[in-house]
Amino acid sequence: MRSTRLGSLEVSVIGLGCMSMSQSYGPADPAESERTLHRALDLGVTFLDTANAYGLGHNEELLGRVLAGRRHEFRLATKFGIVKFPDGRRGVDGHPDQVAARCEESLARLRTDYIDLYYLHRLDPKVPIEDTVGAMARLVEAGKVRHLGLSEISSKTLRRAHAVHPITAVQSEYSLWTRDPEAHVLPACLELGVGFVPFSPVGRAMLTGRLNDGGAWPKHDLRADMPRFVGENFTRNRALVAELEAFAAARGHTAAQIALAWLLAKGEGIAPIPGTKRVSYLEEDLGGADIALGADEVARLDALFAPANIAGERYPPALQASIDSD
Ligand SMILES: NC(=O)c1ccc[n+]([C@@H]2O[C@H](COP(=O)([O-])OP(=O)(O)OC[C@H]3O[C@@H](n4cnc5c(N)ncnc54)[C@H](OP(=O)(O)O)[C@@H]3O)[C@@H](O)[C@H]2O)c1
Repeated sequence: MRSTRLGSLEVSVIGLGCMSMSQSYGPADPAESERTLHRALDLGVTFLDTANAYGLGHNEELLGRVLAGRRHEFRLATKFGIVKFPDGRRGVDGHPDQVAARCEESLARLRTDYIDLYYLHRLDPKVPIEDTVGAMARLVEAGKVRHLGLSEISSKTLRRAHAVHPITAVQSEYSLWTRDPEAHVLPACLELGVGFVPFSPVGRAMLTGRLNDGGAWPKHDLRADMPRFVGENFTRNRALVAELEAFAAARGHTAAQIALAWLLAKGEGIAPIPGTKRVSYLEEDLGGADIALGADEVARLDALFAPANIAGERYPPALQASIDSD
């Protein structure tokens, strides 16, 4: 697979998001997850994404157990800063005196002695970003971490952080139906030479065309609480996706592949990380890397999924409040 550069970090142009192997979208499937991880590397994926919060450490442990013997084949990104408690409560912690300990825990679970890209998962509003990034920079000096990243961050915070230590990548939700980064963060990344990693690039499965029921989310499925995935909003959004499916079919592709090709058409230094725990979805999604959309096709998709056409907010209010946005 071809590659791109996030700052000075070279990665496959499509990575693999590993979150759903441990949480969020339906029951885990450890054996299929293991096959998916190996298949990703075999197909040339060199960029794997996890976080200490995913499954309360389960996700990092999975990657460490399955891939320790292939560590030299991929760039490993993980994150810290979201704190989850077993009773379901959630908080953020970016205190500089916590950063080294969180990193050591991740290294142990991942069975490695370095992290290629270490992200702050969410800004801690109680801690100046300069302090958190200063502590992260000390991990680079110590050789534990090679590059720094920030997730769901405003352009203003990015600029402050980048002045302390070069930021290699920003990771935020970006897809056909979530266009928020286009206003401020993406232009700032372009200006500063910072890469951009779109998360939920196939819209938490919505943009694949394979979701057909907005009223039957199982327990613990994140989408049950997300306004776009329920009731009338789901029905309206699903109708837009039907148009995406038709657009894709006319070109001999799937909706998921076009959703990913659309992101790649937005420029260099963008590496989406579709998430899956299944080999078949992985293989399909990676096909998006081979599709070159023309400017007219991109414009048509831009217009089809214009923010005014999307029904419902992307997050419920409490989650939205934890986002640092411009
Ligand atoms: N920084 C952050 O705050 C943040 C937040 C969310 C996610 N992330 C990262 O971004 C990655 C991707 O985001 P995401 O997982 O939320 O959303 P996503 O990649 O847009 O969608 C994942 C969902 O789509 C399904 N899927 C993937 N390809 C498919 C296909 N071709 N056909 C049908 N279904 C398909 C997956 O199913 P299965 O799971 O059943 O395979 C999963 O339910 C995560 O794994 C995580 O690493 C980061």
